Amino acid sequence: MPYYSDELIEQIRSANDIVDVISGYVRLQKKGNTHFGLCPFHNEKTPSFSVSSNKQMYYCFGCGAGGNVITFLMQYENDTFQEALQTLAQRAGIELPKQEMSVRARQEADKRTRVLEVNKAAAKYFYAQLRMEQGKMGMDYFVNRGLSQETLKKFGLGYANKFSDDLYQYLRKQGYEDSLLNESGVVAIDERRGGYDKFWNRVMFPIMDANNRVIGFGGRVMGKGEPKYLNSPETVIFDKGRNLYGLNLARSTRKHFILLCEGYMDVIALHQAGFDNAVASLGTAFTQGHANLLKRYTKEVYCTFDSDSAGMKAALRAIPILKEAGITVKIVKMAPYKDPDEFIKANGAQAYEERITQAQNSFMFEIEVLEQQYDLKDPESKTKFYNAIAGRILEFEEELERENYIEAVAEKYQMGFENLRKLVRHQGTRVGITRENRPLKSGVQEKKKKENGMKQSQKLMLTWLIEEPLLFEKIKPYLEPEDFTEALYRQAAEILFVQYQEGKLNPAGIVSMFTDEEQQREIAALFNARLKEVITPEEKQKAVKETLIRIKENSISYRSKHLNPTDLEGLQKLVTDKKNMQKLYRME
Ligand code: UTP
Ligand code: MN
Repeated sequence: MPYYSDELIEQIRSANDIVDVISGYVRLQKKGNTHFGLCPFHNEKTPSFSVSSNKQMYYCFGCGAGGNVITFLMQYENDTFQEALQTLAQRAGIELPKQEMSVRARQEADKRTRVLEVNKAAAKYFYAQLRMEQGKMGMDYFVNRGLSQETLKKFGLGYANKFSDDLYQYLRKQGYEDSLLNESGVVAIDERRGGYDKFWNRVMFPIMDANNRVIGFGGRVMGKGEPKYLNSPETVIFDKGRNLYGLNLARSTRKHFILLCEGYMDVIALHQAGFDNAVASLGTAFTQGHANLLKRYTKEVYCTFDSDSAGMKAALRAIPILKEAGITVKIVKMAPYKDPDEFIKANGAQAYEERITQAQNSFMFEIEVLEQQYDLKDPESKTKFYNAIAGRILEFEEELERENYIEAVAEKYQMGFENLRKLVRHQGTRVGITRENRPLKSGVQEKKKKENGMKQSQKLMLTWLIEEPLLFEKIKPYLEPEDFTEALYRQAAEILFVQYQEGKLNPAGIVSMFTDEEQQREIAALFNARLKEVITPEEKQKAVKETLIRIKENSISYRSKHLNPTDLEGLQKLVTDKKNMQKLYRME
């Protein structure tokens, strides 16, 4: 919930013209009312990033990033809603009344800022230590591992010495109080011992967020010892599931894909070898949060994990998560070497580049792993394996995709294209998904497709409504916010309808009523829907009518199914709406 009033938020938003603000970050070219540029949130060669001065919104037709001027700062600077608002208020010379923040909320925001400060101070301290006499061990360690001075600097690497509380003392002298230091993760306060440093005698890897702010650390023992890497605990600023090591550098790569690896050292070795697109998750399993983060920057991820069984499992886990986020996945093999760091040390950058070229399709990788569970010399086991493959191929939604995989798998295992195809068809029929000789399509997928179609219709309608205010009068007799069956769309429609009634259309204002970045992005998408083909005004009119009918029919059928029989008013409304449909069908 915002702790600034809606009016104030709106005042700040409207005082910052979106074209002006974004021009400070992205080179824009004007085409009509819309400005276009290269999207800062994903890699592209032709501009699909649009900024509309009418709507005061931006939207990328390539990656779906979008929102108003506040969202832009949240996304670009990795700011919270409040931070973005503060920047914009300052830019427009608007004073933010301090009392508008609740005490708690203020403390929370201040705490974040101050914990960031402490982490930055600690990073500087470690960095300086590495270059002093007492840091020689650390420096030797890094140099032995082949890191150049330039690399040490680029990653801000440092050293935590053997004293147990010197960082603590240093930070205290800088004026930071115990309670704050305790929250920072670099120091712990013990009732009896007092303050002491979390990291001793370790080489230090500061972890930066995408905007170069130090949010935590990994510290490695020099040699053997447990744990090998000690990491900062999660703090108000450090969420391991939403940050990736190296992303601050990789986000500006010119490559069209991101290299995802497992270790800090892998990322560093890769960057040093010229692969400036490498990132790693932070000693935690790969999450949906990581995938969403990556999706802002790329459409393709190459997993370059350790060659051991843990690495293989990590890949099997990451593949579906990445795919779910709409990212294409490939697997770069490191065997017989342990990891990218060792591979590059042994063979150099050129050889690694070749491995990238040979990267394997993630489905073929999954099949290869599956194969290990079967004994292909045994006919029974082999049959089971083939059936398992067929089952996996059935999971692809599109027929063409299935055919292509049937071809690839059949070739790899020399089982004959027609044989495998028959097996896939047969299995599809048996589990009730398909009928023989009919294109395969699962019931679940059909339903999903229908749902997506309905979402698209509702989006289109909202976009048209804000682009053509006159349309509202025409459809008003038929359409109500309740007809939008998607919860978020309904909320947006409700606000939009009120704005219309008050004669104050303001789509960008709707965006900032949602403080969550993902929601803002979805709202922006709502107001930027497009039909695939460019159409004439007559076709458009027809499309509007058809879309309206579709939404209305869906709403009626939804309500019929979910109506509470005792809800007489709802029932009455349903009957009227059904009658009204006849008029709608005849609408010009
Ligand atoms: P690895 O053990 O593969 O480390 O763990 P590495 O990066 O190859 O390390 P070097 O080359 O021996 O220095 C992969 C990642 O898992 C996390 C770290 O993020 C590490 O980079 N990890 C590993 C921990 O957080 N704690 C540990 O004790 C070990
Ligand atoms: Mn390693």
